Amino acid sequence: MPIKHKPYNIELIRREIDADISGTIHYLKEVASTNIWLKENGQCGDVCITEKQFNGRGRRGNNWVSPDNGNIYLSFYFCLVGEIQHRSLLGLVTGIAVAEALSDIGLKGHGIKWPNDIYWQGKKMGGILIETSNYSDQFIIGIGLNTSLAGIETDNINQGITSVKEAMLGKDFSRDVLLISMIRRLSIHLKGFTTMDFQFFKKKWGEWDILQGECVKFEHQGNVVSGKVDGIDQYGRLGILHESGETLFYSSADIRLDKKSLKQFT
Ligand code: BTN
Repeated sequence: MPIKHKPYNIELIRREIDADISGTIHYLKEVASTNIWLKENGQCGDVCITEKQFNGRGRRGNNWVSPDNGNIYLSFYFCLVGEIQHRSLLGLVTGIAVAEALSDIGLKGHGIKWPNDIYWQGKKMGGILIETSNYSDQFIIGIGLNTSLAGIETDNINQGITSVKEAMLGKDFSRDVLLISMIRRLSIHLKGFTTMDFQFFKKKWGEWDILQGECVKFEHQGNVVSGKVDGIDQYGRLGILHESGETLFYSSADIRLDKKSLKQFT
């Protein structure tokens, strides 16, 4: 028997974030993918949320399992105004907004695994998929956050996953309040995005980065790369300190975590 969950209180959500976004909130009971829907139907500043996706998209061409069980599936239509240096940092900024919103509801011990996966105790809780819209300076920022994904639905997911519910250790929280906070935080970060100071951002990133200082090994363009994680550069690339003493930066890498070696946030 599927567990019944409360649908979004859309009146409350609209009332609370009306002043924070320049567009409209579109609430669909179900949809193939909020990213696709917004790309085809949305405008700058719009937000799309749903209870269920039947073709949820993840990074690297993966599916994003999206049952109707109270998880958050959210897309934000972001249009850049003016030229900026740091457009590649958009995913990292979004991760910080989500992490901050989770702190707002009292969650502890979570962090971000570069580039933008939300983690708790070595397990993935949420992910971010940014797609360009019909114009190169317009982006669809998609966020999937497991609030209560559990049991049978996780069987097809080939990595350790967790949910906000599990991470809250029995403490009650409201999905509506969490969503409101996510949209608010994201919208604040996006407003400041074009004028963001990289050094300030880098420091903030360091506060959430669960890989910093970890020894990692991954495949990059057919070679095995190993070294110690050493921050990011202004393109959002991951720094790896190699045995030679040189730090090289990588823009794509699928870093698998060894749960035992991962530092825990308190
Ligand atoms: C990842 O693979 O880690 C990214 C997952 C992103 C999933 C979200 S859910 C809302 C939005 N709509 C989609 O189809 N995907 C993103």
